[in-house]
Amino acid sequence: MPDGSDKRPPTTRPGPRHVAIIMDGNGRWAQARGRPRLFGHHAGARRVREIVTACPDLGVEYLTIFAFSTENWRRTQTEVAGLMNLFRRYILKEMQEFVKNDVRVRFIGDRVRLDAKLRSLMDETEALTSHCSGTNLTVAVNYGGRDEVARATKRLAEDVAAGRLMPESVDEETLPRYLDTCVLPDPDLVIRTSGEARISNFLLWQSAYAEYEFIDTLWPDFTSEIFTGLIRGYGSRERRFGAVTA
Ligand code: IPE
Ligand code: IPE
Ligand code: MG
Repeated sequence: MPDGSDKRPPTTRPGPRHVAIIMDGNGRWAQARGRPRLFGHHAGARRVREIVTACPDLGVEYLTIFAFSTENWRRTQTEVAGLMNLFRRYILKEMQEFVKNDVRVRFIGDRVRLDAKLRSLMDETEALTSHCSGTNLTVAVNYGGRDEVARATKRLAEDVAAGRLMPESVDEETLPRYLDTCVLPDPDLVIRTSGEARISNFLLWQSAYAEYEFIDTLWPDFTSEIFTGLIRGYGSRERRFGAVTA
């Protein structure tokens, strides 16, 4: 426009409130540089802060990131141990940064299989940031959607057996109350980096009506500019939830 003003009608469509990211491609990123896979995981971890701090300006209230799946134990002992080490060091290093940026941190996934030191760092971070009211960051560690539904169902069954829940009252609002994500809204947008178009057991129940973005960028190359572009792109999508728009 000649006068430099933007005369396009203002877009009123709200952006995604909850964005979930499958941070994939660290191994290939390292491989392309002739380095061990863990080098890629370290580079990947360093990307997280920039994305978390971009959220407030983009109106993203909830950010959920997939860090380690229930299937990732199938990797070599070296890689698994390196990742667990990285998680511990990462949490230690970032804990105060989260508080400073008003980020409330939560972890989802089955903690039973994680080592005691990591578990206590997770508890500590959740407690330390429990008063924070900015971005809600949820980190999925030893998380699998099927495992989560199975654990939820077990607790639901225990409540039925104990007479605390009537089978006839069970409906689709019931199960989510038992999921690890019970305090989170469903994701509006799920992003997966690295060119794989699959969800690999991430947020199965919660993503029933999420929008998806599969992008080729490897996670260590993911920037806040790319993130911003995806958030803006979401605004032009029409979410119908099964209905027909007039
Ligand atoms: C994602 O990167 C991080 C984890 C699964 C822990 P990958 O390690 O899966 O990287 P690629 O997919 O092998 O490149
Ligand atoms: C999904 O990535 C898990 C995480 C990003 C933590 P994977 O690399 O483990 O998934 P697959 O094996 O390609 O499906
Ligand atoms: Mg992968």
